[in-house]
Amino acid sequence: MKLGPFKKIVILTGAGISAESGINTFRDSNGLWEQHRMEDVATPEAFKRDPQLVWRFYSMRRIQAAQAHPNRAHEALVKFAKTPGQEIHLITQNVDDLHHRADPTDHLPPLCMHGSLNQSRCMNCGTIYFDDHAYFDLKGDYAPQGTILCSSSQKASVDYLHHYKLDYRDFLPLSPCCKAAIRPHIVWFGEIPFHMTKINNLLTDADLFVSIGTSGQVYPAAGFLQIAKMSGATTVCINKEEIPQSQWIDHFIQGHASVEVPKFFESLT
Ligand code: APR
Repeated sequence: MKLGPFKKIVILTGAGISAESGINTFRDSNGLWEQHRMEDVATPEAFKRDPQLVWRFYSMRRIQAAQAHPNRAHEALVKFAKTPGQEIHLITQNVDDLHHRADPTDHLPPLCMHGSLNQSRCMNCGTIYFDDHAYFDLKGDYAPQGTILCSSSQKASVDYLHHYKLDYRDFLPLSPCCKAAIRPHIVWFGEIPFHMTKINNLLTDADLFVSIGTSGQVYPAAGFLQIAKMSGATTVCINKEEIPQSQWIDHFIQGHASVEVPKFFESLT
């Protein structure tokens, strides 16, 4: 397939691009939503009800992401972005930092519409912190790792916890600014994704829109193929399986991202 040339290219990625790096997708067999109830760990109500459970889930995901490495698909996008004469934008639903790590010189900074695993946010004032701590280990035990440990009033330490035999469930990481609870800086179900105005402008202006490794189940990202197509872009979808938006896809490439993404972007240069 030989397409192009294109001047304005917009790329959307989902969990499928990181699958071959060892990061679980959400809806494949053994995906995260088979192992956890999304209502228990990925909604504002869940955090209100049981913040420790939510922090256990995100600690596990931080550990998994820290152990992963970018694969050939992440690298191919960065290589393509270095090609002169075109404007390329990357939107990702992924909260892992594999796009960043594939691109240390920031040629293709992603718009992280669902937030970032390595950031936390003060629930009181909204300050966003870089935070890659796992507050719980993979067994679900409290794992302070030298981070800010707090009960509501008192700075705690592991010794303190053991000494007073306090219930670990009383403890939550607090913000340095307000000593209020912090939450993962992640867009949960029922919340509005980040950067939507900018994303909408990019989609309506694109000559080529490429969707990679996303199941097309979650809006608003699931609507991007339609917006781009209706705005006049050529649309391409690279995925392991078909997705529901087939009427908005000009070229569907079925296969693994690590193989098909490098092949497709090389064909454009
Ligand atoms: N190469 C290409 N595609 C793959 C690969 C691979 N190696 N492995 C899996 N896929 C495809 C799957 O077939 C599936 O269609 O990637 C898609 C992943 O879909 P989901 O698990 O639904 O992930 P995603 O679409 O990114 O989810 C969107 O849902 O739960 C929320 O916030 C979460 O950002 C996430 C959003």
